[in-house]
Amino acid sequence: MPVITCIEDLRQIYRRRAPRMFYDYAESGSWTEQTFRENTTDFAKIRLRQRVAVDMLNRSTRTTMIGEDVAMPVALAPVGLTGMQHADGEILAARAAEAFGVPFTLSTMSICSIEDVAAHTTKPFWFQLYVMRDQDFVRRTLDRARAAGCSALVLTLDLQILGQRHRDLKNGLSAPPKMTIPTMLNLATKWRWGRGMLGTKRRFFGNIVGHATGVTDASSLMSWTAEQFDPQLDWSKVAKLKEMWGGKLILKGILDADDARMAAEVGADAIVVSNHGGRQLDGALSSIRVLPSILDAVGDRVEVHLDGGIRSGQDVLKAVAMGARGTYIGRAFVYGLGALGQAGVTRALEVIHKELDTSMALCGERDVHNLGRHNLLIPKGFEGEWA
Ligand code: GLV
Repeated sequence: MPVITCIEDLRQIYRRRAPRMFYDYAESGSWTEQTFRENTTDFAKIRLRQRVAVDMLNRSTRTTMIGEDVAMPVALAPVGLTGMQHADGEILAARAAEAFGVPFTLSTMSICSIEDVAAHTTKPFWFQLYVMRDQDFVRRTLDRARAAGCSALVLTLDLQILGQRHRDLKNGLSAPPKMTIPTMLNLATKWRWGRGMLGTKRRFFGNIVGHATGVTDASSLMSWTAEQFDPQLDWSKVAKLKEMWGGKLILKGILDADDARMAAEVGADAIVVSNHGGRQLDGALSSIRVLPSILDAVGDRVEVHLDGGIRSGQDVLKAVAMGARGTYIGRAFVYGLGALGQAGVTRALEVIHKELDTSMALCGERDVHNLGRHNLLIPKGFEGEWA
């Protein structure tokens, strides 16, 4: 087993082990991938302010997100098709998150179902919803999430129509994969993945197949979004969903101060500043770049979280010092999962925790709550003057 020192190590192993179609799905941004790239390159533009001769004994990264205790301000983001990256992927990732003490978010488009993940974990997880045209399906899905003990609903607002990812179209992405000749040739080299998949029954969209009227077989994410997702989602529907759910609500996909105000108005417990990992509106700003304007607009009314571009504990430190209450990792945990299953997700969390803790110490901070703008060197014009 190679020594794994960083998230990039996990990505390299993942790239070798996962089928091309699913690796490409995770690694893609939409169209030119400008926003996808800038999510990471903008983090690199922010520098950390080193401080010395500061007592660094007894450090803590513990905090809360929507009132829940977390070992560090990092949650696992909802990621569709996680159970295709590795057999039983959502269950394994949820178990790793639970043991580490950070929230796990289950995607509507997961392979393992809500009930299945609940049966294999002991703590409540969060459930992410895509609003479908079929109102009954939405109602039943919320009932299922409530019955499974999910402690928050993460409502995604930025994907009622799918941004185009060229590689998914070229690869014919579907779950399970359709057996074309290029796919078969590629799968022939992925014996670990294949062995896992042969050993599990979980190979379809577990929250959907058998639950949505008339849906009995596998389908591609693309045809799903085109046919099933509700293009008429608006703020009045968001308010109704909040009422229907009746529990903690996190609104994901906010990238604009006006939308952040609407989200606060609706009474969300938290918002996630997000461009969907650069997978939706190509040309949108990176999450870290818009974070300050969103904090200015609603920072005192609603918890502000951020995803997009986080690949290290230093990135977490930067986002939190900038004012985010919490962050989410999507790709960073998928790399670990695809590389080494549950142990890989645990390793990803350990790597990020160690980087956060050590960098905090080198910044002269002992408590994650004390992080602030004073820890950062932000280049002039970073927030930009966009007319
Ligand atoms: C779904 O959430 C996707 O980004 O593919």
